[in-house]
Amino acid sequence: GKLRKTLRWAWRLTYLSAAGLVGYTCLIVYQDRYPEPQFEPDPSKKTLVILGTGWGSVALLKKLDTENYNVVVVSPRNYFLFTPLLPSCTTGTIEHRSIMEPVRAILRHKKAAVKFYEAEASSIDPDRKVIKIVDNSEIKGATSETEIPYDMLVIGVGAENATFGIPGVRENSCFLKEIGDAQRIRKKIMDCVETAAFKGQTPEEVDRLMHMVVVGGGPTGVEFAGELQDFFEEDIKKLVPEISPHFKVTLIEALPNVLPSFSKQLIDYTENTLREEKIDIKTKTMVKRVTDKTVEAEISRPDGGKERVEIPYGLLVWATGNAVRPIVKDLISRIPAQKDSRRGLAVNEYLVVQGTRDIWAIGDCAVAGYAPTAQVASQEGNFLGRLFNNMAKTENHEARIQELSSKMNLQGGNSAEAAREIESLEKQLRRMKDIKPFRYSHQGSLAYIGSEKAVADVSWWNGNLATGGSLTYLFWRSAYLSMCFSTRNRVLVILDWLKSKAFGRDVSRE
Ligand code: FAD
Ligand code: NAI
Repeated sequence: GKLRKTLRWAWRLTYLSAAGLVGYTCLIVYQDRYPEPQFEPDPSKKTLVILGTGWGSVALLKKLDTENYNVVVVSPRNYFLFTPLLPSCTTGTIEHRSIMEPVRAILRHKKAAVKFYEAEASSIDPDRKVIKIVDNSEIKGATSETEIPYDMLVIGVGAENATFGIPGVRENSCFLKEIGDAQRIRKKIMDCVETAAFKGQTPEEVDRLMHMVVVGGGPTGVEFAGELQDFFEEDIKKLVPEISPHFKVTLIEALPNVLPSFSKQLIDYTENTLREEKIDIKTKTMVKRVTDKTVEAEISRPDGGKERVEIPYGLLVWATGNAVRPIVKDLISRIPAQKDSRRGLAVNEYLVVQGTRDIWAIGDCAVAGYAPTAQVASQEGNFLGRLFNNMAKTENHEARIQELSSKMNLQGGNSAEAAREIESLEKQLRRMKDIKPFRYSHQGSLAYIGSEKAVADVSWWNGNLATGGSLTYLFWRSAYLSMCFSTRNRVLVILDWLKSKAFGRDVSRE
């Protein structure tokens, strides 16, 4: 009798929590679908122009009280991209739209309306305080180039792919930074497979086509290599068995090891796991030239000598990190205080671009002493959001104090009520003006390494925890799921994971 009672209660509790979860999700979905009406901001307020819709700019927009400014967002991409799951899109484990969030949907949820222009900022004139924008999309209207004046400007344009001027890279390899890159890789993998399976193909050509080369052993290269090997083991091998003995993934890294930013223990664990997965790791190997079918690299031998090798490939993915965008280079050349900036815009501890007054920079295009990661960019964006909210409040308080003081002067200075209000406002102002500079708080690094294993270097209490394996993989999945931009993204990603597990990845080539 007691057991039955307990079971009944357990059942009721489960039922109630499930109903609560469904109810909560419905509420979020409803709020998402039917946001409150928006109002137009006061045109006399300052114009705040934000460049980019990536990690930094979107974190800023999320935090910003848009009613305090006339906010204008400019980006050639009308969506936010959740980059940590981008490597999973190259093989179809996740469909690309599941990790995109339309910027229009993000902006629609702000209290006051925000203008969005799908365009690229082509230059910034800090003297005239204007930016030039260009619509580079396929469809053009009567104008496709114009200027926007700003009072305050935030640059969050990210970075472009580094090639170090190595010949042939741009023409022959795929990068992995944007949605288009992931789609291109997905198509190319299957093109290589189908071409290798073509009737009468020579064995050398099958070997070349099935050789997938990844250059750069940073987190992007490692995660992609892991995803690719999974794709082969779980799907390609079953569907196209005749080419499977020829399939090979090679990861090339110039330094002595992969994942240089992780701890030694995790580097060893990653390299061992990749080798177990049959990924060929070539460290101390620097790519010097790329042709349409081969990669030429220089291997540093243990005796100090160098050896030049030629590696044939079918697919080449280039993931050697970041380079400065042309718009940022152009701005650097216009500001004398930035003459020594090489890796991006040097900013001070409030993220103000050094040598300017009303320009801030965040994320991969800013040099603030931190790694170019999503974590840093979003914390910087969040900081600026709070800073700007505070600045607007400060200005409102100062205006109110001015108004009250002049009223008091007119009335002969004996309004006790106004004096009390001024005193309270001044107290609040002192607190508001005491804004602490930006400080990055590192939550840890995570990377997927294939065969349902991940590595994590996370801050734990006051120390560090370095772990790798299948449990870490579950942690990796739940951490990234919780970080997805919206409930819609979260639901889509879960469905994609279930779909690819149950039915296999979709190998059709669009
Ligand atoms: P981005 O997010 O790159 O955004 C830049 C924005 O500016 C884009 O919207 C772009 O369209 C726009 N833009 C470009 N040019 C112009 C212009 N001229 N005018 C106006 N707008 C412009 N970091 C982590 O911390 N954890 C991870 O797991 C992780 N995984 C990653 C996986 C991959 C495959 C990649 C490529 C990166 C990953 N990163 C990760 C790094 C992270 O994505 C970047 O550090 C982050 O995106 C930087 O944010 P950002 O806002 O500076 O730039
Ligand atoms: P990266 O800069 O971290 O790594 C690039 C690697 O390419 C370096 O190790 C470099 O030695 C190597 N390389 C450069 N030129 C080479 C050549 N010619 N031949 C062979 N190897 C060469 O770049 P990545 O991986 O694109 O990451 C960029 C940023 O994004 C980093 O800050 C990274 O931390 C972050 N990121 C984080 C992820 C995560 O936390 N899971 C995932 C992806 C990126």
